[in-house]
Amino acid sequence: MKYKHIVVVKRGPPENLRIEECDLRDPLAKEVRVKVLACSVCQPDVQNRYGLSPFAPKAPYEPGCAIVGVADAVGPGAVRAVPGAKIATYPAFGGYAEYVYLPESRLVPVPPSLHPVETAPVVLNYLTAYQALHRRAKVKAGDKVLIIGASGGCGTAFLDLGRLAGLKMYGVASGGKSSIVTQFGAISIDYQKEDFVEVMRRAEPDGLDFIFDGMGGDYVNRAFPLLRRGGVLVEYGNPLSFRGLLRLLVIVLMLNLLPNGRMIKVYGAGFALFYRKPFLEDWAILFRLLEAGKIRPVISGKFPLLEAARANVLLESGQVVGNLVLVAPELLR
Ligand SMILES: NC(=O)c1ccc[n+]([C@@H]2O[C@H](COP(=O)([O-])OP(=O)(O)OC[C@H]3O[C@@H](n4cnc5c(N)ncnc54)[C@H](OP(=O)(O)O)[C@@H]3O)[C@@H](O)[C@H]2O)c1
Repeated sequence: MKYKHIVVVKRGPPENLRIEECDLRDPLAKEVRVKVLACSVCQPDVQNRYGLSPFAPKAPYEPGCAIVGVADAVGPGAVRAVPGAKIATYPAFGGYAEYVYLPESRLVPVPPSLHPVETAPVVLNYLTAYQALHRRAKVKAGDKVLIIGASGGCGTAFLDLGRLAGLKMYGVASGGKSSIVTQFGAISIDYQKEDFVEVMRRAEPDGLDFIFDGMGGDYVNRAFPLLRRGGVLVEYGNPLSFRGLLRLLVIVLMLNLLPNGRMIKVYGAGFALFYRKPFLEDWAILFRLLEAGKIRPVISGKFPLLEAARANVLLESGQVVGNLVLVAPELLR
């Protein structure tokens, strides 16, 4: 039997995403064959495809960083995975596929009642927002926060989780997307018409408690002085290259040495690949919140799994609000 998956055949635009066929084999020892039900289409997929990431893989490679699926076949010695169980995982690559093979240790149990499409954005985008808010920043109700890149996959997760945490939120987004920012109870700042620095200085003259930035570049230096003494900026945006990463680390070092009581911290979900415990705890919390209806990911488009190229074109167009999800054909019927 064969199955299909998507391969980036060379770096560049979405036309370099091709459908290829592979043999469906039995899982190896301690491995699980997962039938993919939903896979997020994320900005890191796009950035990697253009080589715009410090750790971008060389082509050919299989993209797709966050999936929800079902354990389809379990290899010898894989003792915890049960065939038919719903699972999620953040493999970083390989999710744009009908099937993936993963070590059992990489799988995260998903409550059976959760819908795969709603769960997919939780695996990376909500995890990023949750850990930035609660592990890096340690927010508490009433804190004044600024979210830069508020209309995107991660940005809307920050807004949703920030609303739940009782934060006073400001969100930087383009004017056409301001309604999604205000829907979560945040104050929208249109970066195309207003200077967010001036707006924030007027609105919060005593300074912000926290800033969450996914855009990087100029935003870091411009936003940092908006913090109150003791305030923290959490940078989670991709620095786009190895040089960009070094530059960011130098900026972090310099800003943290200033005797002004403000701090900058960097967040990377990539640590989930090495250090599992806090990630497993936080996925479990997020799945419970989703099950209880306390969070609701914004999903603005669903595409058949093998139409990943079309979904990538849309994400690159800059028109997407929230998340796009690739879906197994049986869930689209
Ligand atoms: N650290 C981690 O572990 C981690 C995890 C996931 C993602 N990321 C990174 O986080 C960043 C955002 O990812 P995402 O998935 O949220 O991307 P996304 O869904 O594409 O959203 C990005 C948003 O940024 C907004 N934007 C674009 N230019 C802007 C500007 N100049 N000022 C303010 N907003 C602007 C866009 O909409 P509008 O401009 O139209 O409002 C868009 O909604 C990426 O760099 C990604 O690699 C990091």
